Formats: sequence, structure tokens, C-alpha cells
Amino acid sequence: MARTEAPDVLVIGGGIVGLAVAWRARQRGLSVTVLDPDHGGGAARVAAGMLAPVTELQYGEEPLLHLGIASNVRYADFCAELSEAAGQDTGYRATGTLAVALDADDKAELGELHAFHQRLGLASEWITGREARKLEPMLAPGVRGGLHVADDHQVNPRLLLTALVAACEKAGVVLHRAAAAELLVEGDRAAGVRTSTGEHLTAGQTVLAAGPRSHLLPGLPADVLPPVRPVKGQILRLRMPTAHGPFLNRNVRAVVRGGHLYLVPRADGELVIGATTEEQGYDTTVTAGGVYELLRDAHELVPGITELPLVETSAGLRPGSPDNAPLLGPTALPGLLAATGHYRNGVLLTPVTADLIAETLATGAVPALAAPFSPSRFARSPR
Ligand code: GLY
Repeated sequence: MARTEAPDVLVIGGGIVGLAVAWRARQRGLSVTVLDPDHGGGAARVAAGMLAPVTELQYGEEPLLHLGIASNVRYADFCAELSEAAGQDTGYRATGTLAVALDADDKAELGELHAFHQRLGLASEWITGREARKLEPMLAPGVRGGLHVADDHQVNPRLLLTALVAACEKAGVVLHRAAAAELLVEGDRAAGVRTSTGEHLTAGQTVLAAGPRSHLLPGLPADVLPPVRPVKGQILRLRMPTAHGPFLNRNVRAVVRGGHLYLVPRADGELVIGATTEEQGYDTTVTAGGVYELLRDAHELVPGITELPLVETSAGLRPGSPDNAPLLGPTALPGLLAATGHYRNGVLLTPVTADLIAETLATGAVPALAAPFSPSRFARSPR
């Protein structure tokens, strides 16, 4: 059985969160290995990359809002530093977001959200339908008004992933291509993993960042199993004309028939339309029904989308958690940390997650911002 030299940190999962944690931990002087059969894959390869802590705010999720805002304010610098380190762009765009209402019920609901924003002191401006169409002339004539949120922006998650892989490699993070087959526990402490290729990768600290599969790792003690589940999202990619000015200038979103709908226009002409929210286990089939619903709802919002080439359909799995918030920091098993369960906010929360977990790995202390997201809030029984 092969044994390799033990790094300070082993990250299980080379998706957006695992790679960013690894990069930041390496910057703190730690030696780091990331274990994944396909580094740079995962849910972020499918995600639209809307950075929307304010327009995605749900009642009762204020702690998550504060974490989201803390990440959002880091984003521009995070991307600038990452682009510099990787020698690649990340597609970060400070566009702002319009959340619009299509009927009287939507308008009343958005009005309540606006009042909630105001109580929390968030930048969110109510605009009329006419003002919304002035900002975005392609919006349907029936749009009744909505919210202009100047600080909810966007990034291109595929570029971000490529940049993270490059930055990790340049910084000396070892990207080990294999799956984790079993968590190794020695003397009541996490000691690393056995890989799918039979190696024992030991490490001083292990970070579980395997998204919606984080609870499936054999060897995890029952009382540290993270309560994550896959939540399927289907998403479309279209191509916008660029010849006569932008088709859309900023993110546009709405709640249509109870579902979150958003359109994210990129500078290169890609238009991402998402997303369904489905509890279908690990199924990632793109269905006719999913595509139909997205196109139907997007057409109500922006009728001109039906003229655009449809260039890609895909489906990914969000790592859902019982309270829609991530699990961040030490678990009840010494030596094992969690960075998982980011649900709808994985791309948004990547910079803050990486900073908080790297801080804990380097110092042993849990930053105050991470405390509300301790994995122990779901503990079944004390160890
Ligand atoms: N944050 C958007 C989504 O999960 O669909």
C-alpha cells in the first residue's frame, strides 16, 4: 500500500469551495493537497454566478445575509488577486441587479422585500415599470416595477474555477486526482483518507468540501455526518447579439409561479437563464419540462429571448442544508473541518468561506463571522 508524505491540510473536494480554501490555506504557509477525480468540476461549473445576497434574501435568513454581504464586499479584490495569481480573468462584473414584478401579487411581495431591505439598511431602490424598462429596454411591457439593487453583481464561475486551479498549481497546492474512498480515523482524530486508488493520504487537518456528497464518505462517524442533500438545478445558456448594443445590461430576476428565475448577461454575449429547484436525488438529467419552464418564464420577462440561439442546457446539484446555510469550521471529530452545504450560495460565499477556513486551519481559532455556521448546530448527540 503506497504512502505519500503528509501535508498539513488535505481538502476532500476540488470544486469551487475546496480549491479556494486550498489556495488561501497555502497562502498562509500551509502545505495543501486537494483530492478530487476532476478538479474544477462540481456545481459551480453549471452555476450562473449571480452574486446576489440582497435580492436572494429570504425572511429568517439574516445570519446568511450577513455572511453573503461579507463575501460580496470581498469579491472584487478576491477576483483581482486571483486573476493576478493565475494570469487569467474571472469574468467579475459589477453590473447590479433588477428584481422585477410581473403581476400585482409579485409587486406586493417585492414591496415587502423592499421594506425588509430598508429595515436592514440595505441598498435597494424601488423603481416603476417605466424606469425598469428604461434601464433594460428588452423587459416585457407588462413589468409592473421592481427593485434596483446596485451591489448584487456577477462572476463567471467557469472562469473562476479555471483560475483557481491555475492559482493553486502555481502556489504549490498538490492536486491529487482520485476520489476519497474512506476517512481515516486514528486515536479519535481524523488522519486523512484512503483514496479510490488505494493510497493512504494522511494529513494534519482534513477539510470536507465535497458538496452534496459530503455525507457519503465512508468512515465518517455518525455524529459528524453533515446533513447535506442534492438539490437539482437546470440551467440554460443562450447567445446574445452584440452588434447593436447590449441585449441586457445587468442581472434580471423575478419570482415566476413561485420559482426563482434569473437572467445573467455576460460581457462576451453569453446569457445564462436559471434555474429549476428540484429534489430528485443525484439525478442530473436535463428534462424537456425543465427547459420548457425556464424558457416559458424567461419569455414572460424578456420576450426577445426566443430569438436567441440556445447553446447549452445543463443540470447541477446544489449542496442543500436544513437551514439553507453552510457548515463552516471544526466538526466534533478533532482534525476534521467542514466547508460544505452552501446550497444556492456556493459561488457567492467562496471568498469568505476560504478566508474563514484558512484562518481556522492556520490559527486553530474560529473567526466570529463563522461561529453561527458551526457544523455542531446540527449535531445529533455530543461526542
Ligand atoms: N443561486 C442561484 C441558484 O442556486 O439557482
